[in-house]
This record gives sequence, C-alpha cells and structure tokens, in this order.
Amino acid sequence: MSDALASDKSILDEFVDRCRTIASGDDPVAALTREMERLVADPSALGETVSVPTAGASIAGFDEIVFEDDSVTVYLVHSAPDVVQPPHDHLMSAVIGVYEGRERHRFFRRSRDVPVPSGTADVDAGDVLALGPSAIHAISAPGAWCRAVHVYLGSLSSVDRTLFDPDTLDAEPMTAERYDAHCRHEPVRSTSWG
Ligand SMILES: [Fe+2]
Repeated sequence: MSDALASDKSILDEFVDRCRTIASGDDPVAALTREMERLVADPSALGETVSVPTAGASIAGFDEIVFEDDSVTVYLVHSAPDVVQPPHDHLMSAVIGVYEGRERHRFFRRSRDVPVPSGTADVDAGDVLALGPSAIHAISAPGAWCRAVHVYLGSLSSVDRTLFDPDTLDAEPMTAERYDAHCRHEPVRSTSWG
C-alpha cells in the first residue's frame, strides 16, 4: 500500500474539493481526467481506503453518492458481477476511474433519436474514461465486482435523463426502479454487443 494513501483517511474528501475547483475552471474535462488518473494510479491502495457496502444492493450493485452540488456529482459505483445494466444518458460530461475489477462499456450514438450501438470499451483498475455530454452507455462488470469513481460535471439528480429498454431500445424516463428492472443477470459476453 502507498504510504501517502494509507495515511490519508480523507482522500475522497480531498478529491471532491479538487473536483469542485476543477469544475469552475478552464477545460474541466481534461483537468478532471488528470485528477482521476492520480486518484486511481494505485488502485489497490485506493480500494483499501474506501469501504465496501454490505447492505442495500440492487441487482446492479450499489451506487454511493459522495458529493453533489450544481457544479459536480461524485459517485462510487459498485457493479455486481455479470449483470448487464441498461443503456442511459447523463446529459453532462463525465469522467470515470476504476479501482477494482473491470467496467465494460457499450456505447450508443443517437440516429434520429434512436440509439445505435457504436462500440465498446473495457476500463480496468487504474484506467480512466472520459464521456462527453451526448454519450449513451451501458455498463457491466464481467466476472467479478467492479468498483469505480464516477464524476459528472453538474448535478446529476437534477436533470431529466433517459433510460433505454435493453431489448427494444425504446426510451423512457430514468428512474432507479426502472433502471433495476432493465438489468439482466447473465454472463457478460465479450463479443455479442456491437
Ligand atoms: Fe452512466
């Protein structure tokens, strides 16, 4: 374990403070990406400083809110193994850093308001992914729990977001209940998603 991280019990609090400063500055996505790269540079050490939830899981896992105001939202996202979560948007830029396991992303682009599969990416422990405000993605954790920090440049709970049925890709308003209803507990295949 890194001594610097091990001795710092408020590493997430300090990270939030830096995110808030970055959010009001120039080129926040680039600066936040660099800040996230520093946060997850030693992923096992970060994992040892962040507690693992033990109750309250949905089929998708656990979402823990660390901080939210009008400028930035910080979540810990603990994704359960082999649950295919549904496509959704955020309507704001996001930066994701993984500190345990692998977060698999399926991406979609809008074509005449219909989401069309547009690729995939695996984000492993220690890696960082930035998403633009028009991004639509669906995440999963192949084979093992994935734990990640998700930062959004705005108040995520304040916007009317869209969720997509994973089978039909029909759009509907995002709610936690509907998100869970669209989760599919099945082995996360590596090649079936376009
Ligand atoms: Fe998301």
